[in-house]
Amino acid sequence: MASVQPDSATVGAGPAPPSGGVALGFYDVGKVFDRANTELTVLADVHLEVRENEFTCIVGPSGCGKSTLLNLAAGLSPVSHGRVEFRGRLVQGVNTDVGYITQDSNLLPWATVLENVSLPLEIRHANWSRQQRTERALEWIERVGLKGFERHYPHQLSGGMQKRVSIARTLVYDPDILLMDEPFGALDAITKLTLQNLLLNLWQERHKTIVFVTHDLAEAITLGDRVVIMTKRPGRVKTVLAVDLDRPRDAFRLAETPAYAAVHRQFWDLFRDEVTEVDSDE
Ligand SMILES: Nc1ncnc2c1ncn2[C@@H]1O[C@H](COP(=O)(O)OP(=O)(O)OP(=O)(O)O)[C@@H](O)[C@H]1O
Ligand SMILES: [Mg+2]
Repeated sequence: MASVQPDSATVGAGPAPPSGGVALGFYDVGKVFDRANTELTVLADVHLEVRENEFTCIVGPSGCGKSTLLNLAAGLSPVSHGRVEFRGRLVQGVNTDVGYITQDSNLLPWATVLENVSLPLEIRHANWSRQQRTERALEWIERVGLKGFERHYPHQLSGGMQKRVSIARTLVYDPDILLMDEPFGALDAITKLTLQNLLLNLWQERHKTIVFVTHDLAEAITLGDRVVIMTKRPGRVKTVLAVDLDRPRDAFRLAETPAYAAVHRQFWDLFRDEVTEVDSDE
């Protein structure tokens, strides 16, 4: 039976198997963008601790600052207020310890699947032999279900296949923590469920710390140990909820279970207010 536990302290209760430490910490974080003659406050007072080995999903309406939050964690953009810490260290400049799967696949169009997946190894493991790098890349290409497509170019692949490449390209160098920004947002329903299962299986096997951004509450519940619900812009953490659903999970079957339905109903009641009003950009 599922239970939903508001987890306002953010560190504490939650399903196994977290090892307990804080991987990413956002403390009183604010972000303001300068626009022509105006300032746009995108994030305000964000307090959030992401635990090691936990699958954390962040849901919020479009424009509430989800991608901005990941950019701050990756060190691609500075905070305007407060601080972001990675394993207790202040994030200043690009945070090379995180693997970041951005909202766009960003594959190199002129490079094959094998070359796209190998490239991070050339940068991060320059001391490896070419054969070692190729073997590792081929292993990941197979794991994401793209065996046989090694010599294809991105334009020869479907959207779902391109997403698989971007996942392989990040997991290939084995980052301890993964930031994923709506990786399955633009995909058809079946492809989305298939890739959710791929990710669930990878997490089951390796227990990586994952921060997964989505605007799809069902996806967040399917994947996450905890779901962070953000408010409309300026984005704040509205609440953090523990998803008490057994693992391993099957994305194709989970939604049929009463336990899932109960969690979804309770989470939706908290999320609904944030997504039912359309917000202007100014
Ligand atoms: N570099 C920037 N300069 C100015 N404004 C920006 C910049 N980056 C983002 N914004 C604005 O900040 C707000 C939040 O953007 P962000 O991309 O973080 O939202 P999001 O929650 O990821 O939305 P979505 O779900 O649509 O991807 C938007 O209004 C956007 O226009
Ligand atoms: Mg975004």
